[in-house]
Amino acid sequence: MSNHDLAIIILAAGKGTRLKSRLAKVLHRAGGRTLVEQIVRACEPLKARETVVVVGHQAEQVSALVEPLGAVTVLQQPQNGTGHAMQVAKRAVGRAKFAVVLPGDAPLIRTETLKTMISAHRNGNAAATILSAVVADPSGYGRILRKSETAVAAIVEESQLTGDQREINEINSAIYCFTLEKLWPALAQVRPNNKHRELYLTDAIACLSSKGETILAHVVADAREVLGCNTRADLAEVDRVFREWKRSTLLEAGVTIQLPETVLIDPEVTAGVDTVIEPGVQLLGKTKMGARCTIRTGSVLTDATLGDDVTVEAHSLVAQSRLENSVTIGPFARLRIGTHVKSGARIGNFVETKKSTISEGAKVPHLTYLGDAKVGPKTNIGAGTITCNYDGFQKHPTHIGKGVFIGSDSVLVAPVRIGDGAYVAAGSTITENVPAHSLGIARGRQVNKPRWAARKRRELAAAEKPKKSSRRKTRKKSHRSVRRGK
Ligand code: UD1
Ligand code: MG
Repeated sequence: MSNHDLAIIILAAGKGTRLKSRLAKVLHRAGGRTLVEQIVRACEPLKARETVVVVGHQAEQVSALVEPLGAVTVLQQPQNGTGHAMQVAKRAVGRAKFAVVLPGDAPLIRTETLKTMISAHRNGNAAATILSAVVADPSGYGRILRKSETAVAAIVEESQLTGDQREINEINSAIYCFTLEKLWPALAQVRPNNKHRELYLTDAIACLSSKGETILAHVVADAREVLGCNTRADLAEVDRVFREWKRSTLLEAGVTIQLPETVLIDPEVTAGVDTVIEPGVQLLGKTKMGARCTIRTGSVLTDATLGDDVTVEAHSLVAQSRLENSVTIGPFARLRIGTHVKSGARIGNFVETKKSTISEGAKVPHLTYLGDAKVGPKTNIGAGTITCNYDGFQKHPTHIGKGVFIGSDSVLVAPVRIGDGAYVAAGSTITENVPAHSLGIARGRQVNKPRWAARKRRELAAAEKPKKSSRRKTRKKSHRSVRRGK
């Protein structure tokens, strides 16, 4: 479908008073993105000649989000209603013949639905086509007043409903397609006849209808697509739907998700076939997982890249890090920014890493901190090993070669190098390089004192005895003195 004659207009200037927030409504997030971004992205594939976003509250932040996506912004100040927002948008619309208009707070809309609405509008030679929905609970929405099966007479806002109109359960999604040469004159006739003294875009519908123009209502198949985010409860519901859709996409692509409703997945996350995601997992940002990975309960992956056959044991955190094929990490591991674990390496429990490379087949099984470190292939890092990468002023690197054995509870004071095949004795504080194939030992030498403990016990026992007998004497004395006193 060619849409060179189409403009997209997104109304995103409102404050969102009902959210009770300092943040403008369209900057709130659902499904892992801000509301306004979700809508701009849904419109992108329509390839319209321009996308105009009407901004007002926190205009700078909103513009900074949508302009990189190719949209232009116009400022509506003050915000005198959706009709006024359209009048403000007019100057940016150029030579488009049609416009798809969307509110900034209904982010679940799908591109396919917009395409069918545009086709219905074009084929029906309509002045306006409203995307409507039939819902069980229409409260909070404007209602569609039909004059026949196929034609619309007006949209009545909830505050202006009278009598039987309250029973209408076909609602206005606030998503429309307009023929612009018909809309602009009708909009000019709209007056702020409501308690907020605002110009309502919805009032342009009655105006067009009274002129005998064709107004269509295109009923959306899945009413969830037009859910508006006016309250925090709406936001939670919309987020829930986004997350459900994302999980369904992965399930259909061959990913196992246990107790899916407990798993949170951002829109750009990908996973290969037969990957298993356990309950309570969060997969965020641009996280990418290969095939046959297992992500166990309570783990949070943010912008992580995983190869195939990777196991993330329970309660591990991975951020901006790369795990190659057949790596195992956790439970309770924390891989911070810039960690690169090469194939077959293993990171165990209570290990923290940052800007470090752990090479093929290396093992860091427990209780370790590696910062700004390089660990060679097949090296073993003992429990409790710490790289002291920060001297209070600067960060320094630690290089550990291949096939190295670092004994438990060692402290490697950076900058320092441990050569290939070297050993570091347990409990060492290493401040100087250890050459290849050597033993580095840096700790107090052990001295055993024979029979020291036995002697000590005897001494203590001897010191105890006189104390006991002197106490008995004092007691006797006091008895005598009492008798004398009688
Ligand atoms: C609107 C519709 C209602 C529809 C509902 C669907 C009107 C008058 N009513 O009501 O029929 O059922 O959406 O969700 O249009 N905005 C501006 N400038 C303004 C006012 C609003 O840009 O001066 C933007 C808001 O930022 C928001 C959108 O327009 O993104 C809709 O405004 P909102 O206040 O949410 O309208 P609703 O009461 O939901
Ligand atoms: Mg709304």
